[in-house]
Amino acid sequence: MTRVKMKNGKTCEIREIVEKDCMELIDHVNSLASEEIYVACEGLDIDADEERAFIRVMREGGKRMIYLALVDNLLAGHVDIQIGPLAMTSHVAEIGMGVKKRYRGMGLGKLLLSEAEKWAKEKEVQKVKLEVFSSNDRALGLYQKFGYRIEASLKNEYIIDGKFVDAIWMSKFI
Ligand SMILES: CC(C)(COP(=O)(O)OP(=O)(O)OC[C@H]1O[C@@H](n2cnc3c(N)ncnc32)[C@H](O)[C@@H]1OP(=O)(O)O)[C@@H](O)C(=O)NCCC(=O)NCCS
Repeated sequence: MTRVKMKNGKTCEIREIVEKDCMELIDHVNSLASEEIYVACEGLDIDADEERAFIRVMREGGKRMIYLALVDNLLAGHVDIQIGPLAMTSHVAEIGMGVKKRYRGMGLGKLLLSEAEKWAKEKEVQKVKLEVFSSNDRALGLYQKFGYRIEASLKNEYIIDGKFVDAIWMSKFI
């Protein structure tokens, strides 16, 4: 577990997800999805038991981890990192993340991304990759700051708010 003082003086705790976080995680992911402009997800259609089982199996498997950022003991953000399922992809991990609207711009994204990369290094992952919308300036800024480089751009892959948006694939060798 990592504890850090944020820009607003509050303390943020970064820790691994546990089964009892299941409902908060579902609410958080659904809230991110409901913004409809940042993540390629239309919401989770699962209940607490299914999510609890997912967290248990994920933790036992050792190939995926979710870290949570908590402020005042409430979920403020998450990062999800997943190692490729095949022997031939086990050196690569994919990252997805999201910070609740009211906590953005306070440094939580940087803390979460650092934690995910630390986990990946411990797992001897050599490359981390992620997908980001070309319209997502804040996320692009964060990833560039961390040394991620654009590997590929899929033109007009999404339509968001009636406009075409490219899918940008970025990666970093760690
Ligand atoms: C993208 C996201 C995860 C970043 O987390 P965050 O906590 O808001 O970001 P941080 O405060 O840690 O900022 C990290 C860096 O991003 C960059 N950044 C922040 N705001 C920015 C902006 N408006 N434009 C460009 N870069 C920006 C800066 O480099 C910043 O570092 P600095 O503060 O040292 O200058 C978060 O805003 C979020 O969840 N957004 C909605 C969901 C989403 O986009 N998920 C990612 C999908 S790929």
